[in-house]
Amino acid sequence: MDIAVFGTGSVGRTISSKLASLGHQVKLGTRNPAETLGRTGPGPFGMASFQSWAEEHRGIEVVPFREAAAFGEVIFNCTAGLVSLDALQSAGAENLAGKIVIDVANPIDFSSGGPRPMVSAEDSLAERLQRAFPTAHVVKALNTMNAFVMVDPSRVKGPHDVFVAGDDPTSRARVVGFLQEWFGWRAPIDLGDLTAARALEAWLPLWIRLWGALGTGDFNIHVAR
Ligand SMILES: NC(=O)c1ccc[n+]([C@@H]2O[C@H](COP(=O)([O-])OP(=O)(O)OC[C@H]3O[C@@H](n4cnc5c(N)ncnc54)[C@H](OP(=O)(O)O)[C@@H]3O)[C@@H](O)[C@H]2O)c1
Repeated sequence: MDIAVFGTGSVGRTISSKLASLGHQVKLGTRNPAETLGRTGPGPFGMASFQSWAEEHRGIEVVPFREAAAFGEVIFNCTAGLVSLDALQSAGAENLAGKIVIDVANPIDFSSGGPRPMVSAEDSLAERLQRAFPTAHVVKALNTMNAFVMVDPSRVKGPHDVFVAGDDPTSRARVVGFLQEWFGWRAPIDLGDLTAARALEAWLPLWIRLWGALGTGDFNIHVAR
C-alpha cells in the first residue's frame, strides 16, 4: 500500500521504517525536507540523527506534508499534538478527503519545561482534527503507548491492549485490520465513535508518571476480563 507518515520524531520514524520493512511504499511528511535532512544532532531516545536515519532508510522519501498526503492511501499523524492541525492544514484538505487518518498524536505542552498534557473530558485533538477535515476519516489509535511498542507488541510480556476510536465504523474496522496485519496486535479493542479519543488522550498523564516510576517505556495497558 502507499502510505503517508507525518512526523520525523521517534514515532514517525518507527512507524515508517516498520511499514517499509513490510514492503509498503512510504513517504515521510515534514515541513521542510531539506532542513529536516540536514539535521545532524542526536535523535530522540538514543536514535541516530535524522540525517543518518534517512541515509539508512533510503527507500523512505522525505517530502513536504502536502506531497506525502497526496501520495498516501492511508495517513498516520505522528506530529506534535499541539501543532497537528497546522501540519494537516499544510497537507491540504483535498489530499485528506476520503482517506483514513490514523491519529497517533497526543496534545502535550512543553513550553514551560516538563510535559503538560492538554487533555479534556469535553473534547480531544482527534475530534478537532475531524471537525477541521470532515471528509477525512480520523481514527485514534496507538497513542496510549511508546513508539517501539506500537509496532512490536512483543516488547511487553503477556497480553496487553490497543484501542481504536473513530466516527466511521468501516474505517475503524480497517484500522483494526492494519494493526493486526502490520504490527501484530491480536485483538484491538474498538471503543466506538471519536468521543472515545478523550479517554485515550486522558491516559497520557498516567502514562508519563508510569514512565518516570518504571524507568522504561516498555509497558502498556492490559484490560483483564
Ligand atoms: N514518542 C512516543 O513514544 C509517543 C507515544 C505515543 C504518542 N506520541 C505522540 O506522537 C506524536 C509524535 O511524537 P514524536 O515524539 O515522534 O515527535 P514530536 O517531536 O512530538 O513531533 C515531531 C513532528 O512534529 C512536527 N512539527 C513540529 N512543529 C510543527 C509545526 N509548527 N507545524 C507542523 N508540524 C510541526 C515536526 O515537523 P518537522 O518534521 O518539520 O520538524 C515533526 O515531524 C506526538 O503527538 C506525541 O505526543 C508519542
